[in-house]
Amino acid sequence: MIDKKAFFRFSYGVYLVGSGFGGKMNVMTANAVFQVTSKEPKVVVSVNKENLTHEFIDKGGWFSASVLRKDAPVDFIQGFGFRSGRRIDKLRIGTRHEVREGVPVVLDHCAAYVVAKVINQVDIGTHTLFIGLVQEARLLDGGELVYSDYRNEKGATPKTAPTYNREGEDK
Ligand SMILES: Cc1cc2nc3c(=O)[nH]c(=O)nc-3n(C[C@H](O)[C@H](O)[C@H](O)COP(=O)(O)O)c2cc1C
Repeated sequence: MIDKKAFFRFSYGVYLVGSGFGGKMNVMTANAVFQVTSKEPKVVVSVNKENLTHEFIDKGGWFSASVLRKDAPVDFIQGFGFRSGRRIDKLRIGTRHEVREGVPVVLDHCAAYVVAKVINQVDIGTHTLFIGLVQEARLLDGGELVYSDYRNEKGATPKTAPTYNREGEDK
């Protein structure tokens, strides 16, 4: 038996993942971002194959992950998480960011960021795990947003997210 509510006890942060390819840049919201080694630090992000971010990381070979602050406005978070860069330029909304290796690194409402070069990727069906070797990491101001607080206080997760759970949301 699989009780999907069990996954509500897993902990995550909430991140903005930057990607770029062919002179174009994009940002999406993600909770499935993890530090997986400390020596030669590596981070993993799980990206849905339907997302523009998937195409850009796959082809561009780099990504950034900015840690959202706990006071980040819900509209800001969802502006990157419920709209695809295939239809709109999400960075046009005037988000403060820097660029590394053709990839945007969002600074607005973020407590820290890393920039990583993809060294491996694993096909897990609907999503791909992109494994990145961190090339830069920087602490900014403020504390991090916890995913369960986002869910409880701020809002929903679309079905492209690895943790999407309609059944479990009917609490
Ligand atoms: C809180 C939250 C968490 C999300 N987590 C992920 C994730 O870990 N991986 C993923 O592929 N999509 C995740 N999403 C969904 C993407 O942000 C969404 O599909 C986005 O529109 C993709 O944009 P793109 O097509 O511009 O890449 C999440 C969305 C929200 C709001």
